Amino acid sequence: MSFQEALNILAQGGVIGLPTETVYGLAGDATQSMALAKIYALKNRPQFNPLIVHGYSIEQLQEYGVLSDMALKLAKSFWPGPLTLVVPRTKNCPADLLVSAGMDTIALRIPGHALAREFLKAYGKPLAAPSANISNQLSPTSKAMVLSYFPDLCVLEGGACEVGLESTILGCTGDDVTLLRPGGTSQEDLESVMSRPLLQTKGDTILAPGMMKKHYAPRTLLRLDASEKKDNELLLGFGHAPHADLNLSEQGDLVEAASHLFSMLHILDKKALETGVTSIAVSPIPKNHLGLAINDRLSRAAA
Ligand code: TXA
Ligand code: MG
Repeated sequence: MSFQEALNILAQGGVIGLPTETVYGLAGDATQSMALAKIYALKNRPQFNPLIVHGYSIEQLQEYGVLSDMALKLAKSFWPGPLTLVVPRTKNCPADLLVSAGMDTIALRIPGHALAREFLKAYGKPLAAPSANISNQLSPTSKAMVLSYFPDLCVLEGGACEVGLESTILGCTGDDVTLLRPGGTSQEDLESVMSRPLLQTKGDTILAPGMMKKHYAPRTLLRLDASEKKDNELLLGFGHAPHADLNLSEQGDLVEAASHLFSMLHILDKKALETGVTSIAVSPIPKNHLGLAINDRLSRAAA
């Protein structure tokens, strides 16, 4: 596949296979909600894990996330390379809320693969990319492996991945730096640049978005599987819902619904708080395909 073909697919909200030095990614435009929903649908994940946003320069990524002095020091020392920094989203972050799974943080990295960076620069906007495997299967380190999972995907040829193991993920939301996932950049190398120890999380519990302290939950009560809109309620519809204040997908399309989930919850929560409405009713969402992830997220938000 040519560069130009891949660029066109992304501009139209499609997804491609992107080689990086760690593993191949399943990449889509980080600013297009439909592209992100397609990534989740293809990976067949029952949950919305937040995605890593890939860029070609620190300046470009600073439009998306706020780098503290320490984060900037780490970025300057290890980018391009197998290091991901989870930082607060900027106030007007152009990335869709779905990349952050509704949270107020964003994971950023500049891949250490020359072709990937050249491609990212040509595209101009950052790409969200999880590893290009189906959920619970091995991460792909060659184009052939990506095609074994997704035979119809357009995959850029980038050779075998040099690192072959995912990036190290650090949480840099405050002054402290926490290791969220060990990976291609060693703890020793990180600590020698930081001149202090990395904080550790227990196991990988923090990586499950539902367990993260800062995950986005609406402040308004949610009433799920609602067949009608009661007094003093807003309705988030799905399918035919004439009284809906907003509708996740009038056509009842689960991919479209996923693409709207976090942004619509956000808008309705704000509206409810402003108008004194006490709950948001949500139409029933089928419990198959992406509906599983949508229901998972809704029940967490309602808990
Ligand atoms: O090497 C890599 O990092 C590869 C290549 C393609 O760049 N990507 C990758 O993505 O491993 P993925 O989706 O398989 O893993 C991303 C991890 C997830 O476990 C997710 O929970 C975490 O990053 N993550 C992303 N955004 C986060 C956030 N805002 N807060 C906490 N964790 C986050
Ligand atoms: Mg993965």
